[in-house]
Amino acid sequence: MRTYVITGGTDGMGRGLGLHLLARGDRVIAIASGTAKGTAFTRDAVALGAGDRAVFVRADLSTLAGMRAALDQVGVLTAVIDGLVFGAQRFRPRRAETVDGIESTFALHYLSRFVLGHGLVDALERAQAPVVLNLCGPGGMPGRIHWDDLHLRARYSGMRAATQASRANDLLGVAFPRRHPTARTRYVLYNPMMVRTAMAQPLPAPQRLLANAAAAVFGQSVRRAIIPLARILDEPPAEPISAFRRRTRIPLTGKDFAPEAAERLDTVTRALVG
Ligand SMILES: NC(=O)c1ccc[n+]([C@@H]2O[C@H](COP(=O)([O-])OP(=O)(O)OC[C@H]3O[C@@H](n4cnc5c(N)ncnc54)[C@H](OP(=O)(O)O)[C@@H]3O)[C@@H](O)[C@H]2O)c1
Repeated sequence: MRTYVITGGTDGMGRGLGLHLLARGDRVIAIASGTAKGTAFTRDAVALGAGDRAVFVRADLSTLAGMRAALDQVGVLTAVIDGLVFGAQRFRPRRAETVDGIESTFALHYLSRFVLGHGLVDALERAQAPVVLNLCGPGGMPGRIHWDDLHLRARYSGMRAATQASRANDLLGVAFPRRHPTARTRYVLYNPMMVRTAMAQPLPAPQRLLANAAAAVFGQSVRRAIIPLARILDEPPAEPISAFRRRTRIPLTGKDFAPEAAERLDTVTRALVG
């Protein structure tokens, strides 16, 4: 029996993957902020006969306190992690700041993955073939790190925040093996492209309808989208860091994966989280 930790494990791809792993006999710790979806997840686990192998951890991963509480709780629940999957997200059409004064998308989409990824590396290293699977956007929509305004105080849009977080996750992947040079843990950046989830829910009505219509035509079902995810968990790539757009490998070249930028962001982020 292997143990998987999934942020955003109560909805969309995280939930689909979690239930798939439970159904085949693994153990899943799902982290999310809402009790309703968490309760539904554990109820579905019981229906699968996996109630004793499913745990819901409630934590707001957009706050530093929530990230640290999640780290502590996972530490109590397990000493070994075979796979750590990052899927927590919430699209924010309007700018919001967390109690820590950090722009919310940057905090949830990127910072929580920085804190949990580095913080759980010892538990990952105890597994046989450990992997971090970061569901983000390599090779997807263009975007950049706004070095002079990381919190997007001067100019905000939901898309600007989301694409900045995507680029930050690309660099997080590049920095991971540099921070842990002797680690066996494989870091995988994975862009699922369009998948039919509740992702568009926070958008205003006209954009939501458009996004849902596009997803209905071009998007994949969660059931289909999780097949390659499960395969990556079962057979992690040989390289310490790799990136995929669905099944297509993305070369780790160009400015999105520049080692100097990865180092710079790593330094800035360490200062931010203290
Ligand atoms: N769907 C797509 O088309 C698509 C495309 C490209 C990349 N991706 C990436 O794939 C990943 C999964 O996307 P998805 O569409 O499957 O997600 P989703 O269905 O929107 O689910 C998001 C999950 O994150 C949790 N969450 C939201 N805010 C949170 C917070 N503050 N703290 C902790 N958990 C929180 C939600 O539960 P609560 O609300 O209860 O907290 C939920 O479990 C994301 O990283 C996304 O960026 C998705």
